[in-house]
Amino acid sequence: TVDSACEINEKVASMESFRARTEDGDILTTNQGLKISDDSNSLKAGVRGSTLLEDFILREKITHFDHERIPERVVHARGAGAYGFFQVYNSLANITKAKFLQDPKKKTPVFVRFSTVGGFRGSADTVRDVRGFATKFYTEDGNFDIVGNNMPIFFIQDAIKFPDLIHSVKPEPHNEIPQAQSGHDNFYDFITQQPEAAHMLMWVNSDRGIPRSYANMEGFGIHTFRLINEQGVSRFVKFHWKPYLGVHSLTADDAGKLVGKDPDFHRRQLWESIASGAFPEWELGLQIVEAEDEFKFDFDILDPTKLIPEELVPVIRVGRLVLNRNPDNYFAETEQVAFCIANIVPGIDFSDDPLMQGRIFSYLDTQITRLGGPNFQEIPINRPVCPFLKNNQRDGLHRDTINVGQTNYHKNTLNAGLPKEATPAAGFQGFPERIAANIVRARSPSFDDHFSQAILFWTSLSSWEQDHLVDSFTGEMAHCQPAIRERLVRLLLNINESLSNRVALNVGVKIDPMPYHTAPPKPVTPSPALSQRNQSK
Ligand code: HEM
Repeated sequence: TVDSACEINEKVASMESFRARTEDGDILTTNQGLKISDDSNSLKAGVRGSTLLEDFILREKITHFDHERIPERVVHARGAGAYGFFQVYNSLANITKAKFLQDPKKKTPVFVRFSTVGGFRGSADTVRDVRGFATKFYTEDGNFDIVGNNMPIFFIQDAIKFPDLIHSVKPEPHNEIPQAQSGHDNFYDFITQQPEAAHMLMWVNSDRGIPRSYANMEGFGIHTFRLINEQGVSRFVKFHWKPYLGVHSLTADDAGKLVGKDPDFHRRQLWESIASGAFPEWELGLQIVEAEDEFKFDFDILDPTKLIPEELVPVIRVGRLVLNRNPDNYFAETEQVAFCIANIVPGIDFSDDPLMQGRIFSYLDTQITRLGGPNFQEIPINRPVCPFLKNNQRDGLHRDTINVGQTNYHKNTLNAGLPKEATPAAGFQGFPERIAANIVRARSPSFDDHFSQAILFWTSLSSWEQDHLVDSFTGEMAHCQPAIRERLVRLLLNINESLSNRVALNVGVKIDPMPYHTAPPKPVTPSPALSQRNQSK
């Protein structure tokens, strides 16, 4: 259990027996246990004051209040969460040794947090934005997090651009306008210079950018991951969440009105549906690509701006996620939960997607600031359900665990050598991928085709969905300068002439038919570095 995993020393254990004997558990006390008989009046020199510095009860109460706020997430600050469980339909032992995917009878507890990306913690739910869909599986092998979004792709191909992307999305720094929408000069200045973002721009400006509810959203792990079975065979995988209620969106008009009339629309709907027993459900879907098929597509499966069309690789539904319990305390649970793409378990591994590689660093790093030091794993919502903290990491802000004994270093001979390393079979082993390449600061040419899937997306829409996309780009451009409007129109010309012309007409741009990129998209061939990589079995 969690408690046995935390080493509580004998002194604390003996204190616990005293604690059981205390009476009057419902009486108001200070943080030190002193009973308070007047919580409405401060200590004064005479009834008309002044107030005395000596009033430690007043000072304790105000001091604690003064420190109640912590930094909000640097992105995805606005969110709502819920508990539930995940259950696999059939054992997936043939493709992964992940323990929570073996037994159809086992229910793995989960916590899910949905979010918008750009807005502040207090911003409105129904703005046009990407939605986060982060799931923490509390497995017997440790926490596994799918930190995904409601769209299957992302804006950029390399994590080194992420700070620029987010700076441009967030309110402009001189006047903090606009508060929670992407339609402004900075964002469109940045993004129209990133042809790799064309595909994602289409998704965000489609009706997917204004979901009807969280329960009406798909979720995607986006990056290509690996699944590894007991025999060490690796396959590539994309994770999907498919909602039982189907995918539905608001109209842009309703979404805009709700921003004013009910900014909590999505979180209220989640809360009320769970409270009334109408539990939201999703199925976990997998797209599996055999290792030898890594290069069989006309895009690179490591490129996070590309999806794998379901016509090419079907989504196999392997289990269900049910959200059935609201949190007790928003701050303690939903605000303090710490998702991290690096939280993986044996049987699941990373790929070389360069966006994913940056994320592996970023989450733990930001949480050290956001959650006040390196010990946030001890916060109840973040604790694994298996033994954890069994290592020689010590001290730091907010350390609750009382480690006992003389030694705090690995390979000590003085303390019966605890904790010991696991055997190779029991411990986490990264996939032994073979690399033969020069170190370069570059991008693979196999990431170069920025428009084919954006075109695919446009042509997959019905005519009224296309109308909505045109309307959205038009609305977004309302806040942008003419030069940026023109750049967007040029970018769209690479995707569809009618789309570009309609937006141009709506926003008053006159443009010669010169696309942003004059060269036609190149056919994709694996870079030398990619083709030299062999799959170890
Ligand atoms: C937070 C998804 C790219 C850095 C989040 C959250 C989600 C998410 C869902 C909110 C988690 C929660 O509910 O607490 C994604 C997806 C990405 C992506 C799907 C691309 C496929 C990146 C990149 C970076 C990054 C490239 C940095 C290099 C962060 C940070 C947070 C965050 C710093 C705040 C975490 C916290 O304070 O707990 N992301 N993200 N993300 N993301 Fe990402």
